[in-house]
Amino acid sequence: MRIDILTLFPEMFDAVLGTSIPKRAAEKGLVSYHLTNIRDFATDAHKSVDDKPFGGGPGMVMMCQTIFDAVESVERQDASGSIRILLTPQGRLFDQSVAEELATKDRLLFIAGHYEGFDDRISQGLKPMELSIGDYILSGGELAAMVVVDAVVRLLPGALGAEDGAADESFADGLLEHPQYTRPREFRGMTVPEVLLGGNHAEIAKWRLAQRRERTKQRRPDLWQAQLDKDVERRSR
Ligand code: ADE
Repeated sequence: MRIDILTLFPEMFDAVLGTSIPKRAAEKGLVSYHLTNIRDFATDAHKSVDDKPFGGGPGMVMMCQTIFDAVESVERQDASGSIRILLTPQGRLFDQSVAEELATKDRLLFIAGHYEGFDDRISQGLKPMELSIGDYILSGGELAAMVVVDAVVRLLPGALGAEDGAADESFADGLLEHPQYTRPREFRGMTVPEVLLGGNHAEIAKWRLAQRRERTKQRRPDLWQAQLDKDVERRSR
């Protein structure tokens, strides 16, 4: 997979892409990261990338020209078509199913903006997939792009070691994870559930599934309701 990131702050990505699983995935050749500074495509003396909104109002708006030129220049570097992704609080809410869908693509191009927002013709003209990572406003799309890149890259086949395994994680099947414990067996009076110490794998699997269901019901009634709806749908088929 090739990942292009268009941003005014490429240096923000160094820590995330240079650490842990995103770094290892690049070292293994599963993914390559290409950062482009949008400001390099500014054509005026001030290297402008934003301007005041027509109609008035606070803040600045990212201009069309620099972003269109940056996208077109980067896309010319490689013949394979890219999935364009614009990070914005107006986008579709990012979740594990979107991560799984993106992990099947050969090329992703992220556009991370700053300031109050984007000229709407960027969406109209470039027709990107618009993604939001949650109902809150960040100072820019960079952190959101990092969240999406991290969630996607760890799904690439071979990115996780055999010991990590993504299969039974939260959300893979719509349930939260069961509780985990490691040594010691007792810590400050708190003990590990007996069933995990016995080595009866069938019993352990049963206990874990029950815990996952209970946790989901308690903590995420929205996910639990989706499970119930799925059950009803399955039974009616
Ligand atoms: N840019 C600013 N806030 C954002 C959010 N919540 N998700 C994606 N991009 C953003």
